[in-house]
Amino acid sequence: MNPHFLVTTSIPGPGLELLSEAGRVTVLPDPPSYEQLRELTSSGDFDVVLTQLRDAIDADLLTDAKVKGVSNYAVGYNNIDVDAATSHGIQVGNTPGVLTDATADIAFALLLGTARRIVEADQFVRAGKFHGWEPDMLLGKDITGATLGLAGFGRIARAVAKRALGFGMEVIFAPRPPAHREVSQEELGEFAGQVTQVRWEELIERSDYLSLHVPLTEQTTHLVDSTVLKRMKDSAILINTARGPVVEEAALVSALRKGTIAGAGLDVFEDEPTLAPGLAQLPNTILLPHIGSATVAVRAEMSRLSALNAIAMAHGKRPPHLVNPEVFS
Ligand code: GLV
Ligand code: GLV
Repeated sequence: MNPHFLVTTSIPGPGLELLSEAGRVTVLPDPPSYEQLRELTSSGDFDVVLTQLRDAIDADLLTDAKVKGVSNYAVGYNNIDVDAATSHGIQVGNTPGVLTDATADIAFALLLGTARRIVEADQFVRAGKFHGWEPDMLLGKDITGATLGLAGFGRIARAVAKRALGFGMEVIFAPRPPAHREVSQEELGEFAGQVTQVRWEELIERSDYLSLHVPLTEQTTHLVDSTVLKRMKDSAILINTARGPVVEEAALVSALRKGTIAGAGLDVFEDEPTLAPGLAQLPNTILLPHIGSATVAVRAEMSRLSALNAIAMAHGKRPPHLVNPEVFS
């Protein structure tokens, strides 16, 4: 058998070569529209489709699809209706693990950058406004001794906790907000005695920096809304490297304008790549174009993993990183 792979957007790293060694590869020259993607996946020409977060793989598309698998070039897979895929016997794969540290680095860069007003300061110098050292120029917030609240306690949250402890921060977390779930000492592992579990309400109220590390689900959509923003400290900074819709972006813009909270560092947006009106005009924000996993090495690993997933799927085998193992039962 010579499988045919559909790659919706060209990827860096070894993935395309691995796919070519395993079969035929069609790489689309431009990201497909929903209709194009639906047509291609239902054509019967392709065994597996390698997708990006911007490709909406919804229940309608999956109902018509004649592919064995969808291999997502990302750890997150909120762009895919996994239940629908499972019900049609279609495997879904992702790329976990390899982007944990890179994404934690971006969360921490946003934390440091917003606290110390790095982007604002850079723009200040470039605008020719630096006329010498001044006692009250661009004063920011301390990191050491401040409290970092982590919404979620998965791989990325833990990697952020490690960094924060190194900076002398107090780390508190709520593992599955807004619900409560007790984390055992065993599950805490290396963090036992170093980080403290609190309820979501307490996390919101105590955090000087609140960093989001939850998957996007029905429960986490608009987890941070106007009510939550109002309960946060007016000196607090919100960091989001998870998924845009976890934050009600219009409410955030209004909170930042009114000084309800002090700042925000965002790598993701509610309606990516569109920004909520007014967000780009706020000086107390750092806005990044979803680059959490964007290092040369990490993107190459994601490339390799997504290709290995796709190749296994094409042969009806269980891929290394299968999101819906129920598909085999
Ligand atoms: C990026 O957001 C990913 O889910 O890999
Ligand atoms: C994602 O890799 C997570 O578990 O945080």
